[in-house]
Amino acid sequence: MDDRWSSNNAGIMACPYSLSADGIELQFATNYLGHFLLTNLLLSKMKNTAEQTGTEGRIVCVTSALHSQTYKGGILLQGINEKSGYSQYKAYGQSKLAVILSANELAKRLSKENANVTINCVHPGVIATNIVRHSKILALATKLISPFLKSIPQGAATQCFVALHPSVNKVTGKYIADCKVSSPHSIANNPELAERLWEFSLSLTSSEITSKASAEQNESSANNV
Ligand SMILES: NC(=O)c1ccc[n+]([C@@H]2O[C@H](COP(=O)([O-])OP(=O)(O)OC[C@H]3O[C@@H](n4cnc5c(N)ncnc54)[C@H](OP(=O)(O)O)[C@@H]3O)[C@@H](O)[C@H]2O)c1
Repeated sequence: MDDRWSSNNAGIMACPYSLSADGIELQFATNYLGHFLLTNLLLSKMKNTAEQTGTEGRIVCVTSALHSQTYKGGILLQGINEKSGYSQYKAYGQSKLAVILSANELAKRLSKENANVTINCVHPGVIATNIVRHSKILALATKLISPFLKSIPQGAATQCFVALHPSVNKVTGKYIADCKVSSPHSIANNPELAERLWEFSLSLTSSEITSKASAEQNESSANNV
């Protein structure tokens, strides 16, 4: 990433139940919450750069068509770390649904502020990568159908397109697949759930965001002395 664009790509899939070092269910933490925190930590820098240079800032979030394969209700806001009932596949779907809901919420907030920064979600397609390593069934299925899957450059194409192509200027809050605006599952179009997820995510990450904001404040005060 640079100050003009940021890509939230890192991910894991279908892992057995475990918690991150910060004590959050691992797929939610890796595929969603870490990106949520990074985006919030970079946001003021991106907005300032966009204002100073007149060049649109772009945040690209890699989600998956599997966002529809989640738990009942979408996101387990009341029990994100529940071990009983954990499904390695639904936890992946939940994390990718969270990516879309949160991107939609941030797109709304950025538009209200008239910030020259956009945020969109990308489904890259189905690509033969090592992401399936935690599931024997998926690893075997991927091996069998790999000649029909996207290559890695093909899989990266939509993400690069959304980050860089001039035709995507001012496009925000969209779900994009095969370089075209598409529609996510209806569960991803729930603004109340998106707002509740946003507040929940802030509550889990607020200490990191607050300490970055106060470091910025101190730096700017020192520069003004
Ligand atoms: N492959 C598909 O068919 C497919 C379909 C839909 C969506 N996606 C999404 O596409 C994205 C890329 O996946 P991929 O298929 O390219 O899988 P991949 O080959 O396994 O790559 C995943 C990348 O994420 C990094 N990563 C994982 N956990 C991390 C952490 N805690 N901190 C920093 N980096 C971390 C990995 O780094 P290390 O190698 O160092 O672990 C790796 O570079 C993911 O978000 C995935 O959900 C993939």
